[in-house]
Amino acid sequence: MFSTAIRCTAKKEQKMETGNVREAEARDEREGTTLVLGGTGKTGRRVAARLEARGLPVRVGSRSGQPPFDWENLDTWAPALEGVESVYVSYYPDIAIPGAPEAVRSFAELAVQSGVRRLVLLSGRGEEEAQRAEVAVREVSDEAGVEWTIVRCAWFMQNFDEYFFLEPILSGEVALPSGDVPEPFVDAEDIADVAVAALTEDGHAGEIYELTSPRLLTFEEAVGEIAKATGREIRFVPVSLEEYESMLAEADVPPEVVSALTYIFGEVLDGRNAHLTDGVQRALGREPKDFADYAREAASTGVWDDKR
Ligand SMILES: NC(=O)c1ccc[n+]([C@@H]2O[C@H](COP(=O)([O-])OP(=O)(O)OC[C@H]3O[C@@H](n4cnc5c(N)ncnc54)[C@H](OP(=O)(O)O)[C@@H]3O)[C@@H](O)[C@H]2O)c1
Repeated sequence: MFSTAIRCTAKKEQKMETGNVREAEARDEREGTTLVLGGTGKTGRRVAARLEARGLPVRVGSRSGQPPFDWENLDTWAPALEGVESVYVSYYPDIAIPGAPEAVRSFAELAVQSGVRRLVLLSGRGEEEAQRAEVAVREVSDEAGVEWTIVRCAWFMQNFDEYFFLEPILSGEVALPSGDVPEPFVDAEDIADVAVAALTEDGHAGEIYELTSPRLLTFEEAVGEIAKATGREIRFVPVSLEEYESMLAEADVPPEVVSALTYIFGEVLDGRNAHLTDGVQRALGREPKDFADYAREAASTGVWDDKR
């Protein structure tokens, strides 16, 4: 009777220990979790894939994530942040639009309250609202004693094969109000490498990494590189900002994206960003990818093949 009681107690203790170990394991897992906002988008998808490849726990923060995260629905923020240690903050639709800095600040505040220890913000160059969002993340993090890194990027090369320039490239004609102002387009693979370094390694806290490729190209020259890589004829047609705005509206581009694009082409693309930076080199100790290499690699996937 007595020995049975001891056996029962021992079994119970073993069960509790197993339970505690399981709880501790679950806690450890949760504690290492990185929330990747925009985790199915151009940079977030690449960040999430790199973390997963290293066997690190990742949660995709987007409307299709589990649990879902929606910038437009505050109720979704806390569940997405539960048990999260670091966050890759990619705002949608564009960090340059009015209201973005306030939303990013509110999100950062909730994140640090939830126990997040590291915030990596994806930002844009020479945009008033983007730089205000950076200040918001820095202020909230510094006050809470949390690490921050800013990844401030040029135009993504992937806009040409994964976003709004894809259709025009496929149609054989790209019409833009970009004039002859050059831009140092940056590769989303380089952005993801920098973001993952900042999320997973020491030594990147408090850094503002401004990322560009090693070469300035006008939009016409960028389209020329794609034409060369694909062997297709792709015309570049200069248009006015007003013409461009009407073209976007006719193509049913969402109004918030139209206003972000007209702001960027109408104001930001005035030469203020027409210089190269060393952010990739500083963060990773290697050179960034050139547009010609990006174009060659994207062309080899068949994404720009003539489907007419
Ligand atoms: N594109 C550029 O050249 C460039 C340059 C510099 C900086 N940036 C900045 O980078 C950020 C991301 O821009 P991007 O063009 O690369 O977009 P993106 O990340 O490719 O956008 C798509 C992602 O956003 C998610 N998403 C869409 N609506 C959402 C919502 N309401 N709430 C939460 N997630 C939502 C999508 O997933 P679901 O559909 O599942 O929600 C998807 O994961 C922006 O802040 C932009 O200003 C962009």
